Amino acid sequence: MSIAITGANGKLGTLILSHLLDHIPARDIIACVRNPQAMHAYQARGADIRFCDYDQPASLAHAFQGVSQLLLISSPILDNAARLQQHSQVIAAAKQASVSHILYTGFAFPAPGASSLADLHLATEQAILDTGIPFTFLRNALYMDFVGSLPLHSAVANGCLTVPPGDWRFNAVSRADLAKGIAAVLAEPKKHLNKTYELTASHPWTFHDLTAALSELSGKPLVLQENPEMESWLYGFLLQINTSSVSRGLEQLLGHPTTVLKESIRPFL
Ligand SMILES: NC(=O)c1ccc[n+]([C@@H]2O[C@H](COP(=O)([O-])OP(=O)(O)OC[C@H]3O[C@@H](n4cnc5c(N)ncnc54)[C@H](OP(=O)(O)O)[C@@H]3O)[C@@H](O)[C@H]2O)c1
Repeated sequence: MSIAITGANGKLGTLILSHLLDHIPARDIIACVRNPQAMHAYQARGADIRFCDYDQPASLAHAFQGVSQLLLISSPILDNAARLQQHSQVIAAAKQASVSHILYTGFAFPAPGASSLADLHLATEQAILDTGIPFTFLRNALYMDFVGSLPLHSAVANGCLTVPPGDWRFNAVSRADLAKGIAAVLAEPKKHLNKTYELTASHPWTFHDLTAALSELSGKPLVLQENPEMESWLYGFLLQINTSSVSRGLEQLLGHPTTVLKESIRPFL
């Protein structure tokens, strides 16, 4: 077994790598990164570090030599057409290198046509299906980080969390939970061939739940207030994606429930 991970030095990739090193020998892990010099610590543990740039097909051909499982962590660039081009180059190189299993981190519950983000992830999944190579689709929920863009500090200071009206429900989870679940798949890849996982919180949570969690963490009473005048790019984005549907997939991979809301938001306070 030889598992390659792209974006291995990113925030999600680093967490996956750490978990994986606890479960399989380092010599079976290939970290594919744009800056191999920054990966000394993993090299010292015995992992193979290879240069990989989605925009340089020659680097991909070299990086994927001898790889059996490839985890493609989706590219972070915002231009979805360019992003699809990058993903397509990775997938073509995986086929060329006779990779036997492609795993891909997409986005949970993508509805065709709902957003360019959903379409990007569905198009990438389709490109993987078109290769005929066995796959595993790891569709990540919204990272819990989005709460960092909410006015949490002023809510604690003023005793009031203000949000736009609406039936807001969230399936967001921490990267830590996602990484642990994804590492569990990578540690026993054959169990997960040709499966699609929606990796979300086990239960949806609401702004009322968030207000209660903030209250508990800060030790101060807080109320939730709706303000129809409120405007932010964030709410426009949230309306384009499915933030409410949940699945037990992540909980099952973890072997325990996802981290409770109070603990997940603690780093953002
Ligand atoms: N579910 C969500 O809510 C959510 C939110 C944000 C993003 N995402 C997606 O999830 C992915 C992983 O998240 P993350 O937090 O780990 O993101 P991140 O910390 O920004 O990591 C992105 C990784 O992609 C690598 N990368 C960027 N351009 C590349 C290229 N041309 N060739 C090869 N590698 C390249 C980066 O390497 P360098 O260090 O060399 O730049 C880095 O390792 C993101 O890339 C994005 O597609 C999901």
